[in-house]
Amino acid sequence: MSNTHLLIRMRRRRASLGIRSMVRETRVLAADLIYPLFVTKNAPGREAIASLPGIARLGTEDAVREAARAYELGIPAVLLFGIPRTKDPKGVQASFAEGAVQSSVRAIKKELPSLVVITDVCLCSYTDHGHCGLLSHTSDYVRNDATLPILGRIARSHADAGADIVAPSGMLDGMVLAIRHALDDAGHARTSIMSYSVKFASAFYGPFRDAADGAPKRGDRKTYQMDPTNGSEAEREAALDAAEGADFLMVKPALPYLDVIRRVKQACPGLPLAAYNVSGEYAMVKAAAAAGVWEEKAAVQEILTGIRRAGADLIITYHAPDVAQWLKDSGG
Ligand code: PBG
Repeated sequence: MSNTHLLIRMRRRRASLGIRSMVRETRVLAADLIYPLFVTKNAPGREAIASLPGIARLGTEDAVREAARAYELGIPAVLLFGIPRTKDPKGVQASFAEGAVQSSVRAIKKELPSLVVITDVCLCSYTDHGHCGLLSHTSDYVRNDATLPILGRIARSHADAGADIVAPSGMLDGMVLAIRHALDDAGHARTSIMSYSVKFASAFYGPFRDAADGAPKRGDRKTYQMDPTNGSEAEREAALDAAEGADFLMVKPALPYLDVIRRVKQACPGLPLAAYNVSGEYAMVKAAAAAGVWEEKAAVQEILTGIRRAGADLIITYHAPDVAQWLKDSGG
């Protein structure tokens, strides 16, 4: 068969919209999406976040309303980030039973028992220094092992409130195992762990730090978040979390790390893999759309398709309700 012949055959597969759709290899469905919500008890209602157009800090009632909107659009899960009243060196409010996350979990689960509620387990928006763990008195290093029991207590308080999945995001060594033990000891054997297994020290978290008011006040997160240059290390991080008992793995951010998503999926094929399409990726799409550079819907669909094609089973994205609405509008 000549090359010309082969070329004609490939084109034929794409020629009709019907056939094109039959041979589609990758789909992004509402069922694949997780919608992040910022919850607070500092003020009722919705407080817009300048760097994240369309996203707001939500009081408990509005968090329930926003979760219900997502649920009705077919999105199976929300991921909650808490903004506390006050901060201190140890981030004590992170495990308060009446904290923003715990209160929102209870309210959402009461109203929407089938919606999966995932909670972020980390100290960075609760500590006055803005780091993801306790800080050494003498340096800008996070005290890894001393922080682990605290993460266990935070996870337990979330599970007590009714969280289905806890998601430790601090990139501390041993966090999955410590949280697994803490949950099991408290009778929460059925609570799952979604670990931010592969989290890079990234410029793409800028808008999130503004939203959650969690930028480090001194030092940076390079001592615990991964170096963007490393792919094999990502595989090892994921395998360690799998061994510690993680039920879901994650790669974050998504777009600059599509190859890492593929590698982690291949290294740990048995575990569901989530990719976090982070705040900077969202803000970039929005800014380009506002500048008339591209059409938002097409850009978002292409980006999320790329993340799925790379190997992610689930995508955490601020675009989730938009995507679900577009799918609904197109009968998908
Ligand atoms: C903190 C945390 C961050 C994000 C999720 N959890 C920021 C950071 O590490 O600085 C970023 C999410 C986003 O950018 O959308 N543990």
